[in-house]
Amino acid sequence: MSFISAAPEHLSYYDLQLDHPHWEQATVLDFGGNRGNALMAGRIKESNYWCVDVSWDAIEHGRRDYPEAHWIFYDRYNFEFNPTGISDLPIPDLGRKFDYILAFSVFTHTHEAEMIELVKELRQLLAENGRLAFTFLDPHYVLPGDYNPLLRHHHPQTNLSWRLERARGVNPDLPVQQLLSKAAGADWCALIDNRELYLGQDDPGIRKTGIASSYRTFCTARYISRIFPEATILACPEGFDTQGMDRHHCCVLKARKENAVGMQESKEMVTP
Ligand SMILES: C[S@@+](CC[C@H](N)C(=O)[O-])C[C@H]1O[C@@H](n2cnc3c(N)ncnc32)[C@H](O)[C@@H]1O
Repeated sequence: MSFISAAPEHLSYYDLQLDHPHWEQATVLDFGGNRGNALMAGRIKESNYWCVDVSWDAIEHGRRDYPEAHWIFYDRYNFEFNPTGISDLPIPDLGRKFDYILAFSVFTHTHEAEMIELVKELRQLLAENGRLAFTFLDPHYVLPGDYNPLLRHHHPQTNLSWRLERARGVNPDLPVQQLLSKAAGADWCALIDNRELYLGQDDPGIRKTGIASSYRTFCTARYISRIFPEATILACPEGFDTQGMDRHHCCVLKARKENAVGMQESKEMVTP
């Protein structure tokens, strides 16, 4: 069976980040929305909700729970979630545009080049005043003190140290401090199978075809704003209950006619 998320609803995260949109009237594409995570809050009208995901079973689950919503299986290869899928498959034609496109913890599981390509395609699906919001994990983001008992020996306590401590639960021999030192100062890194940490996007270990039990990527806020210079970058809102887990940043983009992305000078970061 392919992945079915047990995560709590995430619409409240976007509600804070996007300044309380009128969800009740909006058309929403939940990209990588799994079994309908953004619908669970009960604010988006079922018939105004589209979910595109590479997990067949999640799509079937969502279709069963919310039959009036629109469920689209996207048979694109993903190292972790759809290892038998087709590489580089374009996003299916949905025949319409959206007021909001949300992607919660999706590009935290893809290679950077894939994120750039998919973001470019998704922006073309935005209605005129629409917004695309996706989350990412800054490895070096410092969590509040006493955030989680797992991190009591860490100074500072960061998203990456939280994830590595979680991974140590699965692999007790994981050299957490060594991996943290390796990642120090890196703008991008990937933790594969809760074991291997890669800093280079072109590392053959990352590009190899295969099935991984987990594939997590981290990107600093500074780096994301260099990739998407016109984006607004928001830290995780204080009012959002992360339940002691890692804290996602949000990248917000508006519709644009030409969708070129480049590596320009970073702009000032906006934090709430
Ligand atoms: C960590 S889960 C998050 C699920 C959901 N957004 C949530 O917050 O509960 C990542 C989701 O992204 C989906 N996914 C991964 N790569 C994708 C892609 N290229 N296109 C669409 N969905 C993708 C996975 O199948 C999975 O459902």
